[in-house]
Amino acid sequence: MVEKAEWGIIGAGGIGSEVMRQLNQDYVSERLHMGPLPEFVIRSTGVMGPDAVTPLDFESFQDLPIPEVTFVAIPSSDDGFEAHEYISHILQNGGIAVTAEKGAISNYFSELKEESDNFNNLGINATVGGGTRLLEVAKNYCQDVDNITQIHLAVNGTLAAIMSSVGPREGSGMSLGQAVHQAVELGYAEPGSTNPNEVIRGEAEGDIPKKTAIFFNALGLSDESLDWNELKFNLSDEDIDHAAEEAKVRRFIVSLYSPNYLEKSQKCPEDQIIGGFEFEHAGWKLVGGFRHIDRNPLFSALASTTGPSNGMVIGLGPNETDGVYSLVGPGAGVRQTANTMIDDYLSRR
Ligand SMILES: NC(=O)c1ccc[n+]([C@@H]2O[C@H](COP(=O)([O-])OP(=O)(O)OC[C@H]3O[C@@H](n4cnc5c(N)ncnc54)[C@H](OP(=O)(O)O)[C@@H]3O)[C@@H](O)[C@H]2O)c1
Repeated sequence: MVEKAEWGIIGAGGIGSEVMRQLNQDYVSERLHMGPLPEFVIRSTGVMGPDAVTPLDFESFQDLPIPEVTFVAIPSSDDGFEAHEYISHILQNGGIAVTAEKGAISNYFSELKEESDNFNNLGINATVGGGTRLLEVAKNYCQDVDNITQIHLAVNGTLAAIMSSVGPREGSGMSLGQAVHQAVELGYAEPGSTNPNEVIRGEAEGDIPKKTAIFFNALGLSDESLDWNELKFNLSDEDIDHAAEEAKVRRFIVSLYSPNYLEKSQKCPEDQIIGGFEFEHAGWKLVGGFRHIDRNPLFSALASTTGPSNGMVIGLGPNETDGVYSLVGPGAGVRQTANTMIDDYLSRR
């Protein structure tokens, strides 16, 4: 009989609880040869048993035996310190870690790459693109980095949901306040504020620079790793009002223009971008902001993002003659993200 893999949970909120729910279904745990219940659930209040409420007789996480895989789903922070401590401990003790927390991966990318044997023991797919598995798919297209011309990303599902609710491509939209309320209710937004502009700022300023840096570094677009702090920006109330007014034709899009592309293109990026950042790193130009979807034909696949979708468009070859490839999928949502985390483990065991 095949032995069932033991697993643990750190952070039993939306995502952590959903990982537990999925693995607790008999047919899933049987199929995947995993125990139906976690060995432990780490909460902010301490070390709990499989029911996530009964304390276990352990002082701290460091005292626990590390199971085959531990899913880390604590809130994303700017410094990623706590998640990094958890992940390092798991890796140092021979476990596989799978995380949805962006702070640790964006702040400690090089360290974790080394500690995890080049991510052989650490799954990070859920940190960018939620259920879309953007990193995994993009890697296939980016083997020959010098053949890339431009990459465009819509990596914040909450903003896609809000913008498409305010300005649907067809029919009439809702107010910004209503759209943000809906996104919060559906669990797309990071926990915290419910004030519309604060929610939008939290998503745009707190989330997108980290995801962009993780994407850039995970794909190895340069040997010099990109620090997400270089992409920090502030969205003003005027920026948000302006973007909401033009919601039918604006999406928050991040573009990565390659050195080869920049050599040939005089005008890059387009003008009239609302908010965001523009930064050069290792010959690449990184641009983010509420962009007009008609200003680059490659934006069109991202223009239709609705709900909490994420998307990616990659152009390959001189003048994109080797093709333009796109992928769109669910960027947030507990079921999709939890499922990505489970797949991240399965591909590593
Ligand atoms: N929701 C999505 O669709 C989505 C998509 C992609 C990525 N993510 C990422 O996934 C992570 C989890 O998201 P979520 O939506 O599940 O958030 P959440 O509902 O707020 O859950 C996080 C849980 O972590 C626990 N926690 C906080 N600090 C902790 C600590 N130091 N140690 C152990 N547990 C701690 C809290 O539970 P207690 O205080 O009760 O212990 C909290 O319920 C975040 O990093 C988020 O960015 C989420």
